[in-house]
Amino acid sequence: MKIISILGSPRGKKSNTGRLLEEVQKGARHWGATCETIQLKGASVLPCLGCDKCHVTGWCVQKDEFESIKGKILAADGLILASPNYIFSVSAQLKAFMDRCCGVLHCMSFEGKYGASIVTSGGGDEKPITDYMNHFLITTGISPVGALGVTMGNLADEQFTDEIRGQAFALGEELVLSWKGKKRSKRVDKKMAAFKTRMEWLISYRKREWPYEYDFWRTRRGMK
Ligand SMILES: Cc1cc2nc3c(=O)[nH]c(=O)nc-3n(C[C@H](O)[C@H](O)[C@H](O)COP(=O)(O)O)c2cc1C
Repeated sequence: MKIISILGSPRGKKSNTGRLLEEVQKGARHWGATCETIQLKGASVLPCLGCDKCHVTGWCVQKDEFESIKGKILAADGLILASPNYIFSVSAQLKAFMDRCCGVLHCMSFEGKYGASIVTSGGGDEKPITDYMNHFLITTGISPVGALGVTMGNLADEQFTDEIRGQAFALGEELVLSWKGKKRSKRVDKKMAAFKTRMEWLISYRKREWPYEYDFWRTRRGMK
């Protein structure tokens, strides 16, 4: 299994989120997965311009790393999203990446892949953020297998306890084992099916404005 991880902390792999991600990846590697981490920093993925061109052509007009990251995810089997809690949400870096995936959402282009989300915070509130990240994954076509949130303020010297390391390892294992066993969650499948119906209606309604997406749905999804 090939797993891409998108790290939304501007503080790099040694950051709290980067270190937690490493523990998750240990669990995934234990079952033979290969893991690549893409760190979002600087201008690697710029904010969306809202120009709608991706819906028209299938490509973003901005010349940064987004399209190459998208290509790597398309070629992978799994995606992990990792972010610090920045004011009750994901970091701006990760949000920019998520916004740039608007065309991916419309086509649910990552269909068939498996994923997970992790968040670290200073004082808490990770759950609504991991829920949001996993909801995003579902709308791209990815089945999330779980999530982990860690409140750094509860830890001595910001060191993960054995329990947290174990939870992270187990999440990495679950990601690979779900992919290997093609495990599906009824709850996730229901949400995905509802979003698919919504997108099918939207793309059909906007068929003149968004020819790439209309063509995608007709040729690859059999939409009439
Ligand atoms: C801009 C900014 C906003 C933050 N907002 C919150 C917050 O709303 N709630 C919270 O508990 N921690 C907040 N924190 C603390 C970080 O979530 C926490 O230190 C996190 O572990 C940092 O992750 P990193 O080391 O991977 O960058 C904030 C930190 C920064 C820099």
